[in-house]
This record gives sequence, C-alpha cells and structure tokens, in this order.
Amino acid sequence: MTQSKKTGVIGFPVDHSISPIIHNHWIKENNIDAVNYEKINIDPEHFEKEVCALIESGISGLNVTVPLKELAFSFAKELTDVSKQTGAVNTLTFKKGTVCGDNTDVIGFQRSLDQKVVDHNIHNKNCLVLGAGGAARAVVCAIHNLGGRVYICNRTLEKAEQIQRFLQTETEVVDQKDLGDVVGEMQFIVNTTSLGLGNTNNTMINFTKVDQGAFVYDLIYNPKLTNFLSDAQKRNIQYQNGIKMLVEQAAESFNIWHNVLPKNSDLLMNKLEEL
Ligand code: ATR
Repeated sequence: MTQSKKTGVIGFPVDHSISPIIHNHWIKENNIDAVNYEKINIDPEHFEKEVCALIESGISGLNVTVPLKELAFSFAKELTDVSKQTGAVNTLTFKKGTVCGDNTDVIGFQRSLDQKVVDHNIHNKNCLVLGAGGAARAVVCAIHNLGGRVYICNRTLEKAEQIQRFLQTETEVVDQKDLGDVVGEMQFIVNTTSLGLGNTNNTMINFTKVDQGAFVYDLIYNPKLTNFLSDAQKRNIQYQNGIKMLVEQAAESFNIWHNVLPKNSDLLMNKLEEL
C-alpha cells in the first residue's frame, strides 16, 4: 500500500508563510492522496539533522524559504540546472534515497508576468533589480531568460558584484548614489529587498524620474500595497505585487511532487486576497 504524500514548507521563522493555504487548496481541489501541507520551523544551525529527521518520518517534498535556501542548495544531492544557475534551492524532493534540489522561483516570476509586460517592458529593455539576496538571483535569471538587460542596484555594492560574477549573465551593477541618473532609462523596476516589510519603507527610487511607461514590481505581497507600489500608483505607473509569483512558484513545486500543474484560479486568489 502506498503512503499518502507528506509535504510542507521550512523556514526560520516560517509562521508568516501562506504556502499551506495554497498547497492545501490544490491538494483538495485535485483529490491528491496527501496529508496536510505543514509549516515547519528549522533552525539553520541544525538544518541537516532536522531535515534528515523529516526524511526519516517519510516526508516527500519541502518548500524552502528564508534563510534556508542556500543551505538547501548545499544539502541537495542532485541539482537542476536552474538551481545551479541561482545557487539557491526552494524545492526539495525526496525519492529513491536521494535529495533533489530545484528552484521554482525563476519560473514562478516568469509566469507571474503578463505577456504584454514582457513584450513592452522586459524583452530588449533595461530592467532594474533592487537588491542582491536570494530572491534577486532568481529574478535576474528570469529577466535574463526573457531577454531583458539587467541592472542590479544594492545597498551593499559588493553583493551586487558577487551576483554579477556568479550568474555569469550579462548584467550591469549600478551604485546606489548613481541611481537617479539611470532610473529614467529603466522600463521595468523590481524590488527584491526586504524594504517594505514591517515598518520599513523603500525609498530607493525617486518616482518623479521614472518613465510613465515603465512597469514596477514589488516581490512583497504583505502588505499588498507597499509604499514603493503606492509611489508608482501616485504617478499612474503600472505595478504589481508578489502574490502571483508566490502562487506560481508554489504551482511548479506542486507539479514536481504530485505531477499535476494546478490552476491559479480566482477562487484561490480571492481566498488569498481576503487574508
Ligand atoms: P532574500 O533571500 O529574500 O533576497 P536576503 O538574501 O536576506 O533575502 O536579501 C535581502 C536584500 O534586502 C539584500 O539585497 C539587502 O541588502 P544588503 O545586501 O545591503 O544587505 C536588502 N536590504 C535589507 N535591508 C535593507 C535596508 N535597510 N536598506 C537597503 N537594503 C536592504
């Protein structure tokens, strides 16, 4: 008899995660033989021991969130090309005694975009990525895949330069003090920093200098409208938050584990909107 699949998300802390709502919605909708998708706190200091205990308990897949994505990368025995490209793993799959690491943030970001945004604002256009953490790596790869020219700006310049070297894709690094000079030439601006969470505000961009045809994206989805997006809104610049990316990266992880690519339905989006 086969056992019901066990999946979940690990992070530190992980309490804020809304991934269980998304995965459990799809498990039910698609009649998947799986138990409740759970949130599991894993202390980075005991990562290996705690993940091994989960494997022992029969877990078949884990999503990985901040700050464990690099540890998951080192832990995985088999890595997909995209996870190698980003140096981070957000999806672990345990089967036949091995650990596979994948990164669905890249495809999640790509699928979160409307085709007209890709055509008008990314393909052969200048795209500015704010931040140089794990999320930035996935976004830089995605923009590169979509044919955009990537400019990276980060508070710590060296970290932007590190990404530039690591990703081996053609990117430019912009010093934060020069941002005002180049921002007007950007057709796509994406915030991957944590500025906008909690009581923080992202004031890296002077929106009066941004082209009105540009598109502004914030990976943050809680709050739904960060000050960054509301500054774009005030100037009638189009924008979107990170909720669709969250759902799309989850869909791809779900597909890896259950062999079903779930629908990003209005029902689910409304459920998430109400949170
Ligand atoms: P993630 O995996 O979500 O990308 P991360 O790796 O911790 O998270 O990266 C956080 C990003 O937010 C970094 O680019 C960080 O800038 P530094 O590299 O200079 O640390 C950026 N960030 C966080 N707090 C910031 C602040 N107060 N001002 C500017 N940038 C900030």
